[in-house]
Amino acid sequence: MKKESFAKKDFISIADWSPEDLWNLLLLSFRMKEYPANYSDALKGKSVAMIFEKQSLRTHVTFDVGIYQLGGHSIYLSQQGINLGKRESIHDVAKNLERWVDGLVIRTYAHSNCTDLAKYMWCPVINALDELEHPCQAVGDFLTIIENFGDVQGKKLAFIGDGNNVCHSLMLLAAKLGMNFTAAIPKGYEPVSDVVKLARKFAKQSGAKIEILNNAKEGARNADVIYTDVWASMGQEAEKEERARIFKEFQINAKLMKQAKETAIFMHCLPAHRGEEVTDEVMDGKQSRIFDEAENRLHTQKAILHTLMAGM
Ligand code: CP
Ligand code: NVA
Repeated sequence: MKKESFAKKDFISIADWSPEDLWNLLLLSFRMKEYPANYSDALKGKSVAMIFEKQSLRTHVTFDVGIYQLGGHSIYLSQQGINLGKRESIHDVAKNLERWVDGLVIRTYAHSNCTDLAKYMWCPVINALDELEHPCQAVGDFLTIIENFGDVQGKKLAFIGDGNNVCHSLMLLAAKLGMNFTAAIPKGYEPVSDVVKLARKFAKQSGAKIEILNNAKEGARNADVIYTDVWASMGQEAEKEERARIFKEFQINAKLMKQAKETAIFMHCLPAHRGEEVTDEVMDGKQSRIFDEAENRLHTQKAILHTLMAGM
């Protein structure tokens, strides 16, 4: 049942949810992972539309399978199929969809598409990645971090590479939940300053430390988690070669991993460009948790769907 105290309609930015609601989401994720059969009717009779303007393997499959496992029905809408905002305005797409479905998952180029759809639709809208955030990735990753360390308090997450959407959501979630977060990013590619400001505001309440550096070695020092992502995100393909030159010193390799704690784990949201931001040795090494992260996307997204839609 949807808790009466739970007021959020959508899951668009980590910033929108309170620490308490985010902890509850993670607790529910643990329960759903352990006892999936207890939740098999949660979305019975409900339909969820999924708009993907960009490519996806993990997010597409985990939402599709997750909705099925909760007893619901998913409808995949590709950009080629609906041509969002061009064939028809965002407003009109929203006003059509809300007459038929009970929830919407969207991967889009513009954060404003998520917020506009959420404004126009009565039902929940879930951000499955935009240029500013990837909140579903962050909660899945925190499940993996907690599975490994039991807690996040006093632990250090070092994000090394591009100050992108994944970096933003991880930083906001670390700040909300009290995990120390260091971003080691080449000059000029740092996370958006408004997001850093927001994270520092949340960190004041949780006691987390938020640090932005321009040196990979320094960033990795004493870390519990070393995290990276591609240097050129979807939509930045034209900058790929220039970025590869600029980011060279930020590659995660065995030597850089040695800067972290001996007990440190390696994480990557995937897809990875092996040999660029990370070596095969680290991807396939014993500290790597990349496929646990991919699995945990399923459990945490089921928890998001359950929190927003069950008993609706
Ligand atoms: N990590 C992630 O979101 O993967 P996809 O782009 O394949 O969905
Ligand atoms: N930063 C990457 C994440 C992919 C899951 C991108 O936006 O392409």
